Amino acid sequence: MTTSTEALAGAYCVVTGATSGIGKEIARELAAAGAHVLFICRDRARGEATLVELHRESPSAAVRMLVADLSALQDVRAVAEEVYRQLPRLDVLINNAGTHDLRPEVSVDGFDRMIATNHLGPFLLTNLLADLLERAAPSRIVMVASESHRSVLRMDPRTFAEPGRYGPIGSVAVYARSKLLNVLVTQEIARRWTSRGIVANAFCPGLVSTGLVRNIPMGARLFSLAERTPLVRSARQAAEHALRLAGDPRFAGRNGGFYSTTPGAVLLPPSPHRFRTGLQHAVWERSEELVGLS
Ligand SMILES: NC(=O)c1ccc[n+]([C@@H]2O[C@H](COP(=O)([O-])OP(=O)(O)OC[C@H]3O[C@@H](n4cnc5c(N)ncnc54)[C@H](OP(=O)(O)O)[C@@H]3O)[C@@H](O)[C@H]2O)c1
Repeated sequence: MTTSTEALAGAYCVVTGATSGIGKEIARELAAAGAHVLFICRDRARGEATLVELHRESPSAAVRMLVADLSALQDVRAVAEEVYRQLPRLDVLINNAGTHDLRPEVSVDGFDRMIATNHLGPFLLTNLLADLLERAAPSRIVMVASESHRSVLRMDPRTFAEPGRYGPIGSVAVYARSKLLNVLVTQEIARRWTSRGIVANAFCPGLVSTGLVRNIPMGARLFSLAERTPLVRSARQAAEHALRLAGDPRFAGRNGGFYSTTPGAVLLPPSPHRFRTGLQHAVWERSEELVGLS
């Protein structure tokens, strides 16, 4: 049986946020599998260090990098144009980059920066790369989302990106909202782009000890304890899930799914918002307006 890594040999893949954590492991695995990897990072020096590391490990690998801050729409437009210049087609897009800002910050375009990084930037990038994905059809989009999307009680499609105070439960609620947006967009893509030969699936990598969780107060301490238990995954285990969705022939027909990797999570009730097609549609239309696509 063909494995996901065999299926990805020679595939043209874009991965965002490959300078650390899960994204770096995804890029590493893709490079080792013989894929053409183009990763997008926001920090040139960290990107170049990653490039050196990946070339050292897989000397014959075709790995390149582009620099863009995904929270800045102008950067996203510029990097998408560069992707068209560099790749003949796009078999796989892995929207992995993400942040958990502890305090409210405003993006250069005037949005909540965490929502801009985790949702608006990837949304614009995905839309701009759709024609390139179509050239490779059947092609796949993988969204690195999170179980935290289940905790969102209210999602207002008119106001989700507005900057403001983070309220009593702080940044966690905004992070969860950004991840629900990832899930809703995945489902909307499944409806809109099936006829173009593009499928999209989202997954939660589980609890992974990366830069993202280490920034949360007490996060580093709790994780150093939890790391000794099966509760916490390695970035490599998380990357394997992404690769399965990206290349495993057994996932070829799957579209619009959200995959849990946390033991027992499938027993939890799904988010009440997940299957609201009206909400998926409204979020898509509002996101188009905000990023200037409509
Ligand atoms: N860790 C977990 O337990 C967990 C659980 C559920 C979901 N996730 C999701 O997994 C994904 C990867 O996170 P991680 O845990 O691997 O964290 P990480 O180690 O902090 O990696 C995040 C990556 O995203 C990049 N990034 C952040 N903001 C960016 C921006 N504005 N523009 C471009 N790149 C940006 C970072 O670049 P720099 O190197 O420059 O910072 C880094 O490469 C995220 O989407 C996160 O929400 C993680």
